[in-house]
Amino acid sequence: MLNPAFEGVKNIKYRGMLAEHKRKMRLVILFLIVTSILFTIIYWSMQGSGQSFHVEVLVSSDTVGEIDPKIYGHFIEHLGRCIYGGVWVGENSPLPNLKGLRLDVLEATRAIKPPIIRWPGGNFASGYHWKDGIGPRDKRPVRVNSAWGGLEPNQFGTDEFIEFCREVGAEPLIVVNMGSGTSQEAAEWVEYCNGDPSTAYGRLRVENGHPEPYNVKYWMLGNEMYGEWQIGHMDADTYAKKVIEFAEAMRKVDPSIKLIAVGWFGTSGEPLYWNRKVLEVAGDYIDYLSLHTYCWKPRYDDYYTIVNYPLSVEEDLKKIVDLINSVIRNKPEKSIKIALTEWGVWYENATAGLTQSVRLCDGLLAAGMFHVFHRLCNNITIANFAQLVNALPAIVTDDTGGIYVNPIYLAFKLYSDNTGRIVLKTSKRSAFASLLDVSATMSEDGNCLYLAVINKDPNRKLSVKIVLEDFKPKNKCKISQLNGPSVFSKNDFKSPDVVRITEAFTNITLMDDYFIYDFDPHSVTIIVLEREIG
Ligand code: AHR
Repeated sequence: MLNPAFEGVKNIKYRGMLAEHKRKMRLVILFLIVTSILFTIIYWSMQGSGQSFHVEVLVSSDTVGEIDPKIYGHFIEHLGRCIYGGVWVGENSPLPNLKGLRLDVLEATRAIKPPIIRWPGGNFASGYHWKDGIGPRDKRPVRVNSAWGGLEPNQFGTDEFIEFCREVGAEPLIVVNMGSGTSQEAAEWVEYCNGDPSTAYGRLRVENGHPEPYNVKYWMLGNEMYGEWQIGHMDADTYAKKVIEFAEAMRKVDPSIKLIAVGWFGTSGEPLYWNRKVLEVAGDYIDYLSLHTYCWKPRYDDYYTIVNYPLSVEEDLKKIVDLINSVIRNKPEKSIKIALTEWGVWYENATAGLTQSVRLCDGLLAAGMFHVFHRLCNNITIANFAQLVNALPAIVTDDTGGIYVNPIYLAFKLYSDNTGRIVLKTSKRSAFASLLDVSATMSEDGNCLYLAVINKDPNRKLSVKIVLEDFKPKNKCKISQLNGPSVFSKNDFKSPDVVRITEAFTNITLMDDYFIYDFDPHSVTIIVLEREIG
């Protein structure tokens, strides 16, 4: 039993504590109200005035390195309607063509200035015998396409491929058959392409109507030879030894060729073992390690997995670069670069001929891959998108003369028109920074700065303060933007322009060394700034 006097004291004490508690609560509530009002004011001022911003980007005058234009390369394979119906229709086709090459595809390809094109596969290369594809077309054998099924009419062969490359201004990259082919067959292919008329196969090329050597510089030694889906696949030790055999035979014919060995995209387990073995055993014989990476069957509506895919690729590529450097560490004169000879997006619902719908988010993914290639420009010097026409496609055609281009094609167009050779260092900060992917490049004469920004935010415009170090631009600039109504918008034959590039010339308001620009949701924007001289 408590003493009542004590009870009274206790009540007074409680009442006092309660009052103190209420006072503190009022202060907390007041604090919350004031901060949320302030936050709202700041947020709306960022939306409205253009003076505040979500992200600050610093474009440094320090350089990362120089871009090799071959990172914007393509790939065509005897698969589905990529070659037949895509690149090639034949001279007798009712569709407009140039020496059998489909004209609308030729023009669309020219417009993205492909620096290098890889052929004939892919998996197809491991069953292809090049001699089937030369000489008079009506005498060429029809074979089974042992990689993809169906028949291979051999109407498009080495001479047609070189013609296509010449017409679009691309360097050819040929994949030799290491699945069912021999080193002798590969060496004879080099001779057919590069030999002078005094050689047996050089003469054959002349007889086929091509007096000048083709001087094909880039040759790849097989395709994905580690994979059980590959005709003649083999283990790492066997492949590494075969690389030496093929390299010696092919270089005997033309010592100036550049050789690309098959690597395996991955950083642990079997891919790591494979890459290390190839580099250790055959490193002295090769100029490039090839890698293939696809955003492999992502959920169709998983926007962030798709648009962030390039960032995971970047992490793996850095580790593979480290592996290459560790193996060639003691050979200062040796350099082995990475050739990403296949990259792209491959959806679950792709058909047997690898047709699929490509959406704006895939265009954002492509732009993200370009930014990775820019950041790693000292190590990645060749890349080939898989594939140019009709298979996982950049360009889509039908058999009655219809054609349209996908958002991935448009990303190629945007960057091939608006990228400098020199990569500048950039940094970004704020909580919103991960929604932006930024790449800044400069022309070789230092007079043009290309600022490429991907805004991955699916809903919000992001206001960005862009600080330019040692670059005072003219006020007037060109702004090109790839965008569409939503992240999953796409083009098709009926509506070929839903996703598109818009171009505008506008004035920026430069304040000291910075300006502010609002980037639209789900867009890729390149701002081209010219240096103010004087
Ligand atoms: O690009 C389609 C296929 O994907 C290629 O033939 C093969 O190399 C890869 O697995």
